[in-house]
Amino acid sequence: MTEHEHVTGQYEREGNLEVRRGVWGPGPEGVSPVDVLRTAVISARPSEILEIGCGTGQFARSVMDAMPGCDYLATDLSEAMVEATGRLGVPARQADATALPFMAETFDGVVAAWMLYHVPDVDRALREARRVLRPGGQLTVATNGDAHLAELLAEAGGRPLVTQFSSEIAAETLSRHFAHVTQRDIETRATFPDHASAVAYLRTFSEDLAAALPPFTGPRQFAGFTSILTAR
Ligand SMILES: C[S@@+](CC[C@H](N)C(=O)[O-])C[C@H]1O[C@@H](n2cnc3c(N)ncnc32)[C@H](O)[C@@H]1O
Repeated sequence: MTEHEHVTGQYEREGNLEVRRGVWGPGPEGVSPVDVLRTAVISARPSEILEIGCGTGQFARSVMDAMPGCDYLATDLSEAMVEATGRLGVPARQADATALPFMAETFDGVVAAWMLYHVPDVDRALREARRVLRPGGQLTVATNGDAHLAELLAEAGGRPLVTQFSSEIAAETLSRHFAHVTQRDIETRATFPDHASAVAYLRTFSEDLAAALPPFTGPRQFAGFTSILTAR
């Protein structure tokens, strides 16, 4: 199976994303990455926002609620995600981040939350984000670091999820396309009430890892590592 087929299969239905979202909470700083992401988007005061890889649309909905006047368009490669987002009352349409069906300089904000690590040609997606942004517009991004859930993956016999857009290289990658880049790193916590819930989480991306997780009793917490970046 190619990486593209693997990613497409993961997001054919909403279930995998719902299982994953449910376990995450703030880490030692008490800060939620989603809140930091939303603040970064809103504080740039955009009036027309494009989100790429919007998933089930909760982030889009929360920005629209916080900025009632803004014009928000959520897009995703997966039709199922577009439909789920539309059910939240968010304008949504299908689009590939590497070939955006929009004119140049259409938006003053672009959001890419936990999705650029799935795009095989990340530079192509960033060129597209740059193209559809007006001068002075801001791209706001969330991604994960190599340490993200590394302990859980190791217990299941897996390796850290090192991606082509991990926290360690995200700023450098963005700098190839944008002059001003900021990055804030945030430690998070995944809480699993029991072994079955940890297995269910692992199953959202690998049956083999899910089957290999040794039994444990009681709740367990594992560290996550996320970064929020802005680029202009
Ligand atoms: C990990 S999910 C994140 C979803 C959402 N942004 C969130 O934070 O919950 C990744 C999303 O990116 C989408 N995706 C993957 N490759 C894409 C591409 N080339 N263009 C647009 N969306 C893509 C997937 O369909 C999926 O909905």
